[in-house]
Amino acid sequence: MRINKYIAAAGVASRRKADEMIASGRVKVNNMVLREPGYDVMEGDLVEVDGKPVLQPEGKQYHYYALHKPVGYVTTVSDEKGRPTVMDLMTEVEGRIFPVGRLDIDTSGLLIMTDDGSFAYKVSHPKHEQGKTYVARVQGTFNESQARWLRKGIDIGGFVTSPAEVTILKELPRQTVVELTIHEGKYHQVRRMFKAAGFKVLELQRIAIGDVRLGRLAEGHYRRLKREEIDSLLKSSKK
Ligand code: URA
Repeated sequence: MRINKYIAAAGVASRRKADEMIASGRVKVNNMVLREPGYDVMEGDLVEVDGKPVLQPEGKQYHYYALHKPVGYVTTVSDEKGRPTVMDLMTEVEGRIFPVGRLDIDTSGLLIMTDDGSFAYKVSHPKHEQGKTYVARVQGTFNESQARWLRKGIDIGGFVTSPAEVTILKELPRQTVVELTIHEGKYHQVRRMFKAAGFKVLELQRIAIGDVRLGRLAEGHYRRLKREEIDSLLKSSKK
């Protein structure tokens, strides 16, 4: 890291001020007055300003969890109507965590919780198109030709959805179970997509976000995300 950035990152002075400090000979690296304003600090270098060591802040440890949100819980940190929130389920966690994105009160399934604001921004930003997979139980017989409408994109009222992946999982006597992956997150999008195709959603569960799967995590329970799950969310967010 360039010396002026290193000094600024440690909170000693702005980069410009750091340049002035270097020019006036107040900065030493490994006990030698630094003459080179473009110096790149290397691991193990001792940097001093006015004889005091300049230390970088400890790398902050963030926390990442997968929660199985039950129906009836709101996805907020606090609810003005006093309804149960997802925070009520996150007992004994570290960090000031908050939900990444949201699920409707009557939707269950995978919700990511973290105290890492930059991660939350990257993963939930609409332009990053993280795939989100849902299983919906809909009223009536939902067939392949209707599945094709959802795959192609459907007008949900002033907005045409982008291509989705749709698989019919189970045909019940008067209901159909459908798996759907979307790459955007408009308000009530899945319910509105089925409504536009003429179907009412009776039950909706999110089973995956990118490569992170709900799996067998019990309803109301949570687990820590694995390092590779965090990395994979960040990697697919960069595309
Ligand atoms: N689409 C919905 O309609 N509801 C959700 O909670 C998530 C996606």
